[in-house]
Order: sequence, then C-alpha cells, then structure tokens
Amino acid sequence: MPNNQHKTSLCIICDNDTRHEQASSFAADHQLPLLNKQDDTFELQLIFGDERIELYDRQLNTSIYVDFVSGALAHRQQFGGGRGQAIAKAIGLKQGKNPEVLDVTAGLARDAYILATLGCHITLVEQSPILCALIEDGMKRGLENEQSAQILSGQFELHNQNAIDYMSKLDEQQRADVIYIDPMYPERKKSALVKKDMQILQRLLGKNKNDGELLDAALNCARERVVVKRPSHAPCLTETKPATSINSKKTRYDIYLTKSS
Ligand SMILES: C[S@@+](CC[C@H](N)C(=O)[O-])C[C@H]1O[C@@H](n2cnc3c(N)ncnc32)[C@H](O)[C@@H]1O
Repeated sequence: MPNNQHKTSLCIICDNDTRHEQASSFAADHQLPLLNKQDDTFELQLIFGDERIELYDRQLNTSIYVDFVSGALAHRQQFGGGRGQAIAKAIGLKQGKNPEVLDVTAGLARDAYILATLGCHITLVEQSPILCALIEDGMKRGLENEQSAQILSGQFELHNQNAIDYMSKLDEQQRADVIYIDPMYPERKKSALVKKDMQILQRLLGKNKNDGELLDAALNCARERVVVKRPSHAPCLTETKPATSINSKKTRYDIYLTKSS
C-alpha cells in the first residue's frame, strides 16, 4: 500500500484487455490487489475502464475522475471570469505578468488547470500515486481535445512525490515565483457539508499531518509569494500571519510574501 495512503481498503479493478497491462503494473508497483470485477469488500476501487480511470467509493456509490474536456473545468475555462477572479488576484496575475506556479497539493488538478488557463506555467506535485494516476489519465484524454491540449501541452508538468522533499531538492534557478497550497479542509461534523469528491479524498488520504511543515518549506522556496486556500471562516494554516488575504464567496486565499520578494 502506498505509504501516504490512509487505512481504507483499496483495490484495482480492470475487466478489459486494453488497460490490463497498465492496471497490473500499477497494482504490482503499489502492492494493491488486482481484480477483474467490482468487489464490495473494498471501500475504494480504482477502476481502469475502457474510457477512463476513476476512483469509485462504495459507501457514496459514486466515482471521481479528472476531466479537462467537459464538465465544470471546461465551463470555468470558458466562463470563469478570467483574471478578475479571486484565485488570479491571489496568485498576482497582472497584465503582462504570468508567474510560474508550483502547486504542491495537486489533488484532482482543478485549481492548477484554472491557473494554466489563465496563462501560468504550472508544476504540480501530488503525493498520492492514486491521484497522480487520475491526473495523468485526465491529461491523456485532454491532449486529444484541441481546446484543453493548448493548455496542457507544455504548461502542465506533474510529479508524484512528497512536496516537502521535492522543494528541498530545487536549486535557485528551479524555484517558482509562486507556491500554491490547498490543504485538505478541516473535517466538518456534518458530512453533508463536505462535497462528495472531497469526502472521497478524505477517505483515501485521511488527515494531513504535515500542513505546517509544507507552509514552512514553501516559504523557504518561493521567489515571491505563497498562497494558501482556506474555507472563508477557517483559521490560518499556522500561527504565521499572512501579509494579506483575498476573499471570495466561500473561500479565502491567504497570501504570504517571501523574503526574496
Ligand atoms: C484538497 S486536495 C487539493 C485539491 C486541488 N487543489 C484541486 O483543485 O483538485 C489536497 C491534496 O494535497 C495533497 N498533499 C498534501 N500534502 C502533500 C505533500 N506534502 N506533498 C504532496 N501532496 C500533498 C493531498 O494528497 C491531496 O491530494
């Protein structure tokens, strides 16, 4: 089992020839059971289907997958408010300025894709090999579509690694202008308040224990600023106070300026 993996039971499912080799090498690499049909004894099931790879949650009876071509991300690309939206202001996007962004909590790569559509070059780091498999699969499909291919080719680079290790190995020239952190939101008492996709991530990953360390590492690494995404009323990630914050309806972006900025 991958070492950042929560204790939830997880298996790989593949019932087709097209993806069998890919599924069996993923199962072997990550020491996960490989089955050829769904099995209710596993809470989470990574399904290598004909069309796409998806993570199925038995309790919620729903799946998550990465889709840059249709659905919410494509809609946001077209109608999302461009550089006027809060995330763009938080990153420091200005006319003629497209900062290089290192997203150290890639997750399902949604925020990263939004920033890439706004012109940023994005490097994504995600510790979970399961989520990286979903992102890579989404990128593969996205590269076959003209609109998303323009964004994904050349601007979107993914690393499956712990971001604290990743940042510690960057030399001066490789450091990004902006580091973006979107930690798992604190667990809410009423699970109905947490969106289903985030409930699945919580089940997959459990509580994150290294958020403070991640912020410290980012503050030592970013050239200009670190942006931390929080729910509007949540406290700051650590006792270090941000220089300023930008608020949108349900989200707050805390901005920390770094010594080199
Ligand atoms: C709330 S999700 C991010 C969602 C993402 N912003 C999106 O738009 O899809 C948080 C992610 O950060 C990842 N993460 C947390 N700590 C990390 C670390 N030290 N290195 C790499 N990934 C990390 C978790 O595995 C999880 O997938």
